[in-house]
Amino acid sequence: MKIQDLSAVVTGGASGIGAGVVRVLAQAGAKIAVFDRNLELAEATAREVGGIAIACDVANDESVQQAFANAQAEHGAARILVNCAGIDTARKIASRKSGAHAIGPMQRVIDVNLVGTLSCCAHASTAMLDLEALDDDGERGVLINIASVAAFNAPNGQAVYAASKAGVVGATLPMARDLSRYGIRVVTIAPGLFDTPLAGTMDEQMTGQLLRRALFPQRKGRPEEIGSLVQHICENQMLNAATIRIDAGFF
Ligand SMILES: NC(=O)c1ccc[n+]([C@@H]2O[C@H](COP(=O)([O-])OP(=O)(O)OC[C@H]3O[C@@H](n4cnc5c(N)ncnc54)[C@H](O)[C@@H]3O)[C@@H](O)[C@H]2O)c1
Repeated sequence: MKIQDLSAVVTGGASGIGAGVVRVLAQAGAKIAVFDRNLELAEATAREVGGIAIACDVANDESVQQAFANAQAEHGAARILVNCAGIDTARKIASRKSGAHAIGPMQRVIDVNLVGTLSCCAHASTAMLDLEALDDDGERGVLINIASVAAFNAPNGQAVYAASKAGVVGATLPMARDLSRYGIRVVTIAPGLFDTPLAGTMDEQMTGQLLRRALFPQRKGRPEEIGSLVQHICENQMLNAATIRIDAGFF
């Protein structure tokens, strides 16, 4: 699909990877709605690209529904959804020192990273069903999710985060099957280490260890490098039901 003038929603678009995606899609001519729980930062990012900012907690269904209704009232139903909202956790499932992994943070990571992603996919695609097809192939829209290489190969302490991201990878094919009859594609991106505030919370030793596990280049990725992959996914109709790793050959 041609991105120019299409309505796009980017969750977690205030910061990091989401903000990189916002900049690239805006450059390609999309009308941007930034959904984020951090409204102040969302407003700053949206202002930069002439978009709108909407307060939204992706883990709260009421908040998600309201955010989509507000975005649709301003820009029309989104043809592009990019799910970037996510949180991290680093805690062993059990250890002698700290006992069992607490259920509260476990639940929250699953709620935000997995349920939040699925819920945004559900509401965005529901609104797409009533849109006119964009071309003779019948394309109506695309859902793009940000998972992580952790879905395939996570270090210790990341069982819950990895499970949340593996859930997104696993849901990609059945969602694409569900929506194929309406001309809606679903693609997931699995990034390695990218230079964002979230990745900045990791200590230097861990960062160094992760970077040494990349083949080339051994540096953090830039959010715009994910943005340009998102742009390509929107424009290339043959990409569907796939998870694409963007991780410099992380092993
Ligand atoms: N940075 C990396 O190295 C890396 C690697 C692999 C995957 N990821 C994934 O990429 C995504 C973006 O991460 P990032 O590094 O840009 O992090 P980030 O913290 O810079 O950005 C995440 C954004 O999501 C928002 N957010 C968090 N919880 C939310 C909620 N419940 N509702 C709405 N918004 C919420 C935050 O306010 C923030 O603006 C996450 O899903 C993360 O798991 C990041």
